[in-house]
Amino acid sequence: MTQRGHLKAPANWINDPNGFIYFKGQYHLFYQHFPYEPRWGTMHWGHAVSRDLVNWEHKGIVLFPSKYGDQNGCFSGSALEHEGRLYLYYTGVHYHRPDPEDIHSCLDDAFESCQMMIASEDGMRFDNRNGKHVVIPPVLEKQIGDVTHTRDPKVWRGRDAWYMVLGSRDMAGVGSLLFYKSKNLTDWSYLNRIAGPKGFGWMWECPDYFETEGGNVLLISPMGFLKGRGTEENHAICMLADFDEKSGAMKLADSWQFFDYGLDLYAPQSTLDQDGRRVVIAWLRMPKPVEGGWRGMFCLPRVVEVKNGHIYFRVHPDVKRLYSKEITSVAEAREGCYRICIELADQETLEIGGFRIRRDGDRIRTDRSKVFPGQKQFDVRFETPAVCEGNRLDIYVDPNLIEIYINDGEYVVSNAVYGLRQELCSGTTGRLKLYTFEDRKTEEFEEE
Ligand code: FRU
Repeated sequence: MTQRGHLKAPANWINDPNGFIYFKGQYHLFYQHFPYEPRWGTMHWGHAVSRDLVNWEHKGIVLFPSKYGDQNGCFSGSALEHEGRLYLYYTGVHYHRPDPEDIHSCLDDAFESCQMMIASEDGMRFDNRNGKHVVIPPVLEKQIGDVTHTRDPKVWRGRDAWYMVLGSRDMAGVGSLLFYKSKNLTDWSYLNRIAGPKGFGWMWECPDYFETEGGNVLLISPMGFLKGRGTEENHAICMLADFDEKSGAMKLADSWQFFDYGLDLYAPQSTLDQDGRRVVIAWLRMPKPVEGGWRGMFCLPRVVEVKNGHIYFRVHPDVKRLYSKEITSVAEAREGCYRICIELADQETLEIGGFRIRRDGDRIRTDRSKVFPGQKQFDVRFETPAVCEGNRLDIYVDPNLIEIYINDGEYVVSNAVYGLRQELCSGTTGRLKLYTFEDRKTEEFEEE
């Protein structure tokens, strides 16, 4: 099964992107997957590959529960390459009290988590029976981390060793990070921990740390970050950070940004593309399945850049190129996907099939109340902070996801949508430019 542009669940449920890597000539994107129903349950790793970040091919399930440690799920993790082999690190969970009426969930949060590793020669085949190793057993020392809520290993090559960061919580119930180090990829020793500032949630999921020319970045998904509003509490944020390999200390900047101001994207994970750009992808939380029974998709790959202390998320240039066929009306859009380029004047509104985008002074506001099923846990209105660099919008429309890149990624607002109508309304229609997918190169799609 192949897909263009946005990668979507092949069927049933997906959540976080995992093990994102360019390996032996192609991109591998693994993901959290419940293969039986369109809802979260016992986690497997699904797998998709791509040569260009644009055309994706689903490859089925690569990791499934098979050991005591991952009996109840293969949770999130990451990949690295060493001497021609692909290594996956992930969290295995073991429930102490599975719900007798639904073995795919756990009662009273009674479970333990360990960190596991599995390697592959070709990145395609993984030996679930003989290839798995527990590299970090459940953390029993309370002063270090939480035996239940410690997970999502992100690994990277440092100057003289391999490093791993895990999301966790401390004894005071504050989100924290644990750092480990290894010389050989199998034996990992504990290095250090940091606890987040108060008000940054009770557990930090899916940490990702990387260096860029303009500054080093930490991505985290704190649980309980926006607590008490009656809507989704867990949100992905990013900030500048500095990790000291010797001591394992990490300094965090005082200011932070949302990864995306539509607040639907979660658990972003990054990797380097084949040209050395830092690219990130994230999971779109969807309140209900789409017709056909699938639920969950990923945003377009975004290049991360830091300039003057600000973190930019720009559409990957190869993905931008996919939307290169100019059209004059939305009816001509291929597969319901198109791109709108427009400069919004102050107080101007653009309506995309019922989804509204408005500029109010130096803020961009979105309103999806007309194209979103009424679900209380999800907001319908969003806004950016004040933008500094103009009013240029580059909008990527998919039948279930609208991504608005403002000033080439100064901020991004992405919203899940349902049942968009095929029309654009705006005082500015004359000034907007429309594109859809380029013409297909048939040889790349032989399998369809
Ligand atoms: C984030 C998360 C991770 C965990 C995975 C389980 O969405 O909760 O922390 O590893 O999903 O599916």
